[in-house]
Amino acid sequence: MGEIVVVASQKGGVGKTTTVINLGASLAILGKSCLLVDLDPQGSIASGFQLDDYKLPYGLYDVIVKKIPLALAITDIGLENLEIVPSNVKNEEQEIDLFTHALNLKLIRSILKPLKSEYDYIILDCPPNLGTLTLNGLVAADSVLIPVQSEFYSIKSLGKFLRSLKTIGKKYNSKLKFKGILITMYDRRLKKSREILKDLRYGFKDIIFNTVIPRNSRVAEAPAFGKPVALVDMTSVGALNYFKLAEEFINRNNRQ
Ligand SMILES: Nc1ncnc2c1ncn2[C@@H]1O[C@H](COP(=O)(O)OP(=O)(O)OP(=O)(O)O)[C@@H](O)[C@H]1O
Ligand SMILES: [Mg+2]
Repeated sequence: MGEIVVVASQKGGVGKTTTVINLGASLAILGKSCLLVDLDPQGSIASGFQLDDYKLPYGLYDVIVKKIPLALAITDIGLENLEIVPSNVKNEEQEIDLFTHALNLKLIRSILKPLKSEYDYIILDCPPNLGTLTLNGLVAADSVLIPVQSEFYSIKSLGKFLRSLKTIGKKYNSKLKFKGILITMYDRRLKKSREILKDLRYGFKDIIFNTVIPRNSRVAEAPAFGKPVALVDMTSVGALNYFKLAEEFINRNNRQ
């Protein structure tokens, strides 16, 4: 039985989409079959593979609003072991329709259930808020991975997000576990970054992944090539650390 992992954070721009794409690609290269599902109407997962999200024939929008079978929205991206479900939201009206349908918080869970046995991992990318789509992701998931930047405001917003998760867990998904907190865009040259990493490790102990994702220009450039960083420059520190993360991810026991 596969595992559904939701990558979520209330904060924007922390590396959720970058992690979904590059962790997914590294897991796929290591032989694990992965489906990446874009719950974010920004449609960044498709863009990361240089596809025009809204030009694709089907996506999550069509599954949720038009009730087409999920199998039709699974899109081949030409990589072994890796498929995506793009978001495919074409305008604001459709976005509102999507949010409204997602008021049924168990919708994504029921849509993904039949696919759980077909993949090793189903990884969900969320918008940067605790709206209905993120809540759907948290209700559908077995575990949550939280990307955090090593900067001043992160600890405060992480604390807030963890409190929200506790409430959501109690109310809607008591089985939700921690995959872990992932430090992203780490810059070890900055004293402040090093101090925050130390504080985070002290505060959150083994919930934090040992692997830290460094700030790396190859990671930032990769979407312009329509590829995960591993296929742009396998030897870059970004690619190497996403591989390290994938290995840790596979061997890790989820935390309560
Ligand atoms: N390790 C990294 N090194 C350099 N740049 C990075 C790294 N990770 C992410 N970025 C860049 O930071 C920006 C934000 O990343 P990303 O889009 O993954 O965040 P997000 O949390 O998904 O954002 P949103 O909340 O808007 O969905 C992007 O421009 C991305 O290329
Ligand atoms: Mg994103």
